[in-house]
Amino acid sequence: MKKYYLSLLIISIGLIIGLSSCSKDNTSSPLTQEFIADDNSFGDFMSWQLIKTNQGPDPLLGTAHAGNDSTVTRKTYIKNNQDRVNGSFPIGTILVKHSSNPAGTVNEFTAMVKRGNNFNPNGNDWEWFMLMPDGTIATKDGMKTRGANLMNGMCVGCHSANKIKDFVFSK
Ligand code: HEC
Repeated sequence: MKKYYLSLLIISIGLIIGLSSCSKDNTSSPLTQEFIADDNSFGDFMSWQLIKTNQGPDPLLGTAHAGNDSTVTRKTYIKNNQDRVNGSFPIGTILVKHSSNPAGTVNEFTAMVKRGNNFNPNGNDWEWFMLMPDGTIATKDGMKTRGANLMNGMCVGCHSANKIKDFVFSK
């Protein structure tokens, strides 16, 4: 009988330890954190921190971001004024860039979002976006214009020139 109670006690202690370590894993493991942007993630970007205003051609840009047109102004905003921690922007960081000209012939919105969760290890987990003027995610051929390799990898390809600064030029 004594033996029976002893093993019951050992089993219950084992259960308690097992359960408590389990719940700890679920709440604190950084690998399970992920920020998946949606149509509501960008709309108020003009009230975020404006970190850069550029105008005129830039050899780094080529024709991207309408940068070859000297009348175009390119403005970059960042949500919550996030900064790098140990070289990388935190999960949930959002940057939006607006290229426009006075004639109104250029009005382009692009964004990058730190998604995390090993979404895109070669591109430091950034997801790339084209936006509509109202901040919703643009659609092309019935598909949302988002992803690790948006525009056949052109976004991440060019931004990897600044890989050492976590793919971000303006901050
Ligand atoms: C040929 C190079 C090139 C390509 C392609 C390119 N970018 Fe950029 N991007 C830049 C440069 C350079 C800047 C710095 C700001 C400036 O001078 O306009 C920039 C800035 C940005 C910013 C502001 C944050 C930062 O890094 O400064 C965002 C957001 C952005 N680009 C998104 C995109 C997206 C989305 C795509 C693809 C649809 C894309 N870019 C394609 C060169 C490029």
